[in-house]
Amino acid sequence: MFRSVMRNVTLMAGALALSAAAAYASEGMAKGKLHYTPADPNHYPYHDPAVVAGKAKINIDGAVIRDHAPVKVKKNEFKLGTDATPEQIAGWNVDVRPDGKGLPPGQMTVEKGAEVFANNCASCHGDFGEGVGKNPVLVGGFGTLTHQAKTGGDEGPEKTLGSYAPYIAPFYWYIKMAMPLPTPKKLTNDEVYGILGYLLQLNEIKVDGKEIEDDTVINADFLKKVHMPNEKGFSYNDLRKPDTHNTRCMKDCVDMKQMKVMHIAIDATDSIVPSVKLPVPTCDDPKIKGANGCPAVEAELPATAGQGGGAGEALYKKHCAACHASGAAGAPVVGNKGDWAPRIKQGKKTLYEHAIKGFNGMPPKGGAMSLSDDQIKEITDYMVGKSK
Ligand code: HEC
Ligand code: HEC
Repeated sequence: MFRSVMRNVTLMAGALALSAAAAYASEGMAKGKLHYTPADPNHYPYHDPAVVAGKAKINIDGAVIRDHAPVKVKKNEFKLGTDATPEQIAGWNVDVRPDGKGLPPGQMTVEKGAEVFANNCASCHGDFGEGVGKNPVLVGGFGTLTHQAKTGGDEGPEKTLGSYAPYIAPFYWYIKMAMPLPTPKKLTNDEVYGILGYLLQLNEIKVDGKEIEDDTVINADFLKKVHMPNEKGFSYNDLRKPDTHNTRCMKDCVDMKQMKVMHIAIDATDSIVPSVKLPVPTCDDPKIKGANGCPAVEAELPATAGQGGGAGEALYKKHCAACHASGAAGAPVVGNKGDWAPRIKQGKKTLYEHAIKGFNGMPPKGGAMSLSDDQIKEITDYMVGKSK
């Protein structure tokens, strides 16, 4: 649940970035202090519905609210639809906010909640919330959120209800609407309160400095007093702010053509072709003409190109030197015997195949798809001859 809340927040922030950017310049934003605690609904971020940008107001969803003369429509003038009844609205309005707004009446002790949990939830989440199979663990994981998941390294963060959830109240809604997974909505309000009490007790959450006992009665007022350990782990600020702080590079920026193609090899598997395709450097690029081993003036191609007439060198300079003269992208440097000896050992057939079809950081035909297979073979022969 909290995951999807965060996802929505991120999506919204992205969508709002453009329309809100203009609003930002205006002084209206300066006062927007929207950090909040669940116990203090006045600081709930949605509380302030609009910011002022010039004459317009920007709504929380990014829309511009304009002042206009009220449009007078007589009731039922268009004979479309009917007014929603309070019962219909109540049927839809079932969410529970982090500050506890929306929690219905009801209560149950932790002890009884543990029984309801055992009967409805333990088959998947374990008797003590430890998780069965791939079903989520609901207890523990404290202090692990800063762990990095690395190949063959540390375990990643263990995100559970206890360690990760910033607020408990929305879980009332989640459990009521979505759990138990096979038969959602079967629990009574009382039962959901009891279960939440049991889950808080398992996570050793203290409320008002006190441990949760078996006979503690859980209800809306109780949940509003709960502060989860990760409550400050998410930052909201103002949702209308752009969610990136980077400024675009305007001068002396990294030249993408000079960047090395990196790839990560994982354990037993051979290697992984880089998923990001960087532009293939070619000597046609005026920026590297005369540098990186590229000839300053384009070599004339002999008429015999591709027919074994010694065109290898010219074609090499035009199409392959950008990487193979400098070692860019990790290419074996032509003329460097150490680089080439193990490759030459593989035999011509393999070298040709790798040059034509590509091999790790070596793009198929070095990116020069117009070259024929024979031309590639001829260049390869030239490169090998220079590197023995
Ligand atoms: C049949 C197996 C099953 C049963 C029974 C079940 N759950 Fe779940 N529960 C799941 C699965 C699977 C998910 C993950 C759903 C998802 O991420 O979309 C989940 C998610 C949750 C989460 C959110 C965990 C998180 O990290 O996001 C909570 C809380 C939860 N269940 C509580 C309960 C409670 C309370 C009950 C009993 C009333 C219950 N579940 C019964 C399988 C089950
Ligand atoms: C974008 C940079 C780049 C360009 C352009 C490029 N290569 Fe490569 N090439 C590489 C890299 C990187 C490797 C090393 C791949 C490896 O071993 O993981 C490589 C390796 C090779 C090998 C050795 C393969 C092996 O099995 O060891 C041959 C042969 C080769 N290139 C031929 C060519 C030819 C011919 C051209 C021009 C048509 C060319 N390359 C253009 C980057 C490039």
